Amino acid sequence: MLSWDDEAAAAPRQTPPQGATAEASAAQVALRVNADDKRVINGQTDVNQLVPFKYKWAWDKYLAGCANHWMPQEVNMQRDIELWKNPNGLSEDERRLVKRNLGFFVTADSLAANNIVLGTYRHITAPECRQYLLRQAFEEAIHTHAYQYIVESLGLDEQEIFNAYNEVASIRDKDQFLIPFINVLTEPTFKTGTLETDQQLLKSLIVFACLMEGLFFYVGFTQILALGRQNKMMGAAEQYQYILRDESMHCNFGIDLINTIKLENPQLWTPAFKEEIKGLFLQAVELEYRYAEDTMPRGVLGLNAAMFKGYLRFIANRRATQIGLETLFDQDENPFPWMSEMIDLKKERNFFETRVTEYQTGGALSWD
Ligand SMILES: [Fe+2]
Ligand SMILES: [Fe+2]
Repeated sequence: MLSWDDEAAAAPRQTPPQGATAEASAAQVALRVNADDKRVINGQTDVNQLVPFKYKWAWDKYLAGCANHWMPQEVNMQRDIELWKNPNGLSEDERRLVKRNLGFFVTADSLAANNIVLGTYRHITAPECRQYLLRQAFEEAIHTHAYQYIVESLGLDEQEIFNAYNEVASIRDKDQFLIPFINVLTEPTFKTGTLETDQQLLKSLIVFACLMEGLFFYVGFTQILALGRQNKMMGAAEQYQYILRDESMHCNFGIDLINTIKLENPQLWTPAFKEEIKGLFLQAVELEYRYAEDTMPRGVLGLNAAMFKGYLRFIANRRATQIGLETLFDQDENPFPWMSEMIDLKKERNFFETRVTEYQTGGALSWD
């Protein structure tokens, strides 16, 4: 409930700055934001003025993110709960897969959210991009909520799942790879504006969009969606489908951001820098492959770790070319073409159709 008696509301009003209500002086008009002056990094224009737009792609993605809004409680988990509680419902390998999968994701989206809020956001000087990042940060909160909701629904050991990123080597290794790239941006003294720090920021953005959201999520997404395709864990699979859709948007936003920074700052894209990025791609593919092996020590659901080798190489090639690098592997074919269909799926064409109808959406709020 909103209360009008709280401290902030009761605080004395400040007098409006002189001239704010009168017509602007010529000097003030000269301070108005000119779209041409905006820059994604190291910009000098007022970040509080969203318009005039320059980066329309960022605003469009913000609108698309809002149009895709969903909440975890919209998804009915009853059948998942029954299946999980049934001793014959799932095989041991399937249960291991679900637990290891959640073990990565329950903390991954908190890392992502903290990276945005405490790191990336303050270094980006285009308000359209900041607007998208605010939306993205909330979506990361919804994802953490979704994973928590699955853990709670299935009655899993919360301590075990939420500590997997410390205790399970294949998960810990992925996170330890990421953490230095997050820490550099969240370090309070870090400032862009030199070749070195601008390259550090660009590198962190590439690691985050192309390797974390664009690669480290994909073994996990494929596994749960493969369960769903076999009519198992349909509620969890539906949640992952929504998350996958959000994450594809995050990844595409990140790639647009990276490419715009490259365009505005071509001096950052040196041969040595590109070599370093390629090395990070190879490292990430290896880590994700080891995670695939650990979550699927034997074949399960018609999937096995070897199939993922091809899939990860396919995705890594795609991410590399999206940011203007050459392909890294000889792998043109997507071993899981059905995943591309999932990514393109619209909410209203959701084939799982397990939506809980009594949940109130923003469009159907009642005030009593
Ligand atoms: Fe997320
Ligand atoms: Fe994300």
